[in-house]
Amino acid sequence: MKRDMEFMLNGQPVRVEARGGQTLLQLLRDELGLKGTKEGCGAGECGACTVVVDGQALASCIYPALEVEGASVTTIEGLAAPDGSLHPLQEAFVKHGAVQCGFCTPGQIMSAKALLDANPHPGEDEIRSALEGNLCRCTGYHQIVEAVKAAAEEKP
Ligand code: FES
Ligand code: FES
Repeated sequence: MKRDMEFMLNGQPVRVEARGGQTLLQLLRDELGLKGTKEGCGAGECGACTVVVDGQALASCIYPALEVEGASVTTIEGLAAPDGSLHPLQEAFVKHGAVQCGFCTPGQIMSAKALLDANPHPGEDEIRSALEGNLCRCTGYHQIVEAVKAAAEEKP
């Protein structure tokens, strides 16, 4: 089954043809060319593919593409400002050495974004809890948590 559908992607309306059985990750990467969202496990276990849908961080590798009809989807490509300046979370990840190989980074940042949008000043436990589904094989968890804390402190 194929269906034309519309949704908001990084603040812009998009119209695409989505297939039954297609994941949101496939739609983003293969149809829409947004390669910032990564595929790790492909099974909802690692968080590399995390995007934000209507304020919720979710694993796009197991989320049906057709489910985002009418929704607002934010990917890592939607974070930098139009002039290219980085989002405070991106800046904090760089500044705190939270990016090693970088494969998990888009997912980590999108989980953190959903957290900070809902809770601008989370405690460390809340940050760790929000990121627990995002695995980092480079084991940079300390720096990642510090980066999210720093970004939260900068938020008005
Ligand atoms: S690639 Fe989606 S959770 Fe691992
Ligand atoms: S920075 Fe390499 S997997 Fe996290």
